[in-house]
Amino acid sequence: MKNKRTTLVHLIYFSRLNLAADAPTRARQLGEITRQAQKKNEFSVITSFLVVEQNFAAQVIEGERMSVNETFARISNDTRHRDVQIVEWREIVKREFVNSFATGIRSAANDALFQKANLMPMFQRGTPRAATIHALAGALQAESMSKQGIDHLFV
Ligand SMILES: Cc1cc2nc3c(=O)[nH]c(=O)nc-3n(C[C@H](O)[C@H](O)[C@H](O)COP(=O)(O)O)c2cc1C
Repeated sequence: MKNKRTTLVHLIYFSRLNLAADAPTRARQLGEITRQAQKKNEFSVITSFLVVEQNFAAQVIEGERMSVNETFARISNDTRHRDVQIVEWREIVKREFVNSFATGIRSAANDALFQKANLMPMFQRGTPRAATIHALAGALQAESMSKQGIDHLFV
């Protein structure tokens, strides 16, 4: 029998971003979060995907149980967002995301995927479904991979 020493889990949460309203400042703020998160996640072998729609964020965080817990503890204390709520935490068999920290921000280029997911009414009610967030993050990753010409690796 294979000796299973680590437990792989994913945590999905959503929050309200406290970012600036003007686009350049907002982009700079998101860039800063990305830089910090990438470095930390690489070190902790965390893979993740952050979905951003208006002032709502939802993130899937995958990794070893303790690493995910520690990462989420830091994230939930960050004043750059508020009302951080766990949507789902569970064991997973394998990772679904390839980058330590990737972001999908709603834009004209990916509008169809966001429209299909229709997360906004769920965010506003405070009840986004884990499966919807997960599927949208997966679709945004697939689209980005495809643009880079490496989709054949992720069938
Ligand atoms: C929306 C959002 C997503 C974040 N995602 C991560 C992440 O995936 N990993 C991480 O280490 N930090 C993430 N952070 C940053 C952490 O909240 C924190 O600032 C960072 O880990 C540095 O923590 P420290 O100042 O306690 O060292 C995120 C912050 C925000 C606002």
